[in-house]
Amino acid sequence: MSIRFDGKVAIVTGAGGGLGRCHALELARRGAKVVVNDLGGAVDGTGGSSAAAESVVAEIKAFGGQAIANGASVADDAGAKHLVEQAMDAFGRLDIIVANAGILRDKSFGKMELKDFEAVMAVHVMGTVKPVKAAWQIMRDQQHGRVVVTTSSTGLYGNFGQTNYGTAKLGLVGFMNSLKLEGAKDNIKVNAICPVAATRMTENLLPPNVLEMIKPEYVTPAVVFLVSDEAPTGVVISAGAGVFSSAQIFESKGINLGHAATADTVAENWAKIADFAEPTHFFSGNDHAGHLMARLGDKPVAG
Ligand code: NAI
Repeated sequence: MSIRFDGKVAIVTGAGGGLGRCHALELARRGAKVVVNDLGGAVDGTGGSSAAAESVVAEIKAFGGQAIANGASVADDAGAKHLVEQAMDAFGRLDIIVANAGILRDKSFGKMELKDFEAVMAVHVMGTVKPVKAAWQIMRDQQHGRVVVTTSSTGLYGNFGQTNYGTAKLGLVGFMNSLKLEGAKDNIKVNAICPVAATRMTENLLPPNVLEMIKPEYVTPAVVFLVSDEAPTGVVISAGAGVFSSAQIFESKGINLGHAATADTVAENWAKIADFAEPTHFFSGNDHAGHLMARLGDKPVAG
């Protein structure tokens, strides 16, 4: 199998460095025309210059690929709209958005100012939503679209000092979960990457020998698969150091305590409620409602 993107157009946000740069380079190597977006600011999102995006465009052109640079902030209404317009003006279609741009404003929750919470939400959540919204009708009309959002183990599982980042990153999984349903009939697939990589975001957290093992290049194959024609939809792939796994939310089988359930009977039955011997993953909220109905068929344990 050789995954190719000839004739396809991709936007990769935050692609002036780190993971986004690797995604953009690999998509271009496989034939995609790429819009390299990057605000070019610091890790906390301050400052900005289009130089980072332009240098990745130069790298792509050096091996004969096609790319243009965009220096807008994805969190900006007009900037996100213009990003999509630029892709259409330059290349005439838009097949793929890899929403990768991100910033950090780490602090324990007690010390965090709300403006640092809002800034992180604006870039990760709205900076994903805005370009995808601008591209949505285009993808629907084309009957082809691929969206990858970038989540994080902080969103899936938590990390001290990252309540803002974790909220945003799991929010993107929620965005994916509903959008995959809305895109299904128009061949639009929506997935998430949960990367582990040595970039400027993580370089101070780990020793050099570990950083060498987790180059961003080792994450990119999962992203390329997730935007390919063969892509699944609604999945999270965790990727780092050449290790790939998939994360899902599971629910325990549960028990029917009946309408007479009280806080006390919930407490008494907690071990059974949280028994994951028979876990289920639901593809949609509707499927989850079906699970509840199925439990109603069980004889109530209390009541
Ligand atoms: P990075 O800092 O090298 O890349 C992020 C890029 O986004 C930067 O080039 C930055 O200029 C750009 N950016 C920031 N705000 C922007 C905005 N408003 N508009 C356009 N571009 C903007 O860091 P890295 O590690 O490559 O991060 C890429 C994504 O992966 C982020 O969403 C990050 O949260 C996520 N991630 C990274 C992990 C890692 O281990 N490196 C782990 C989990 C998630």
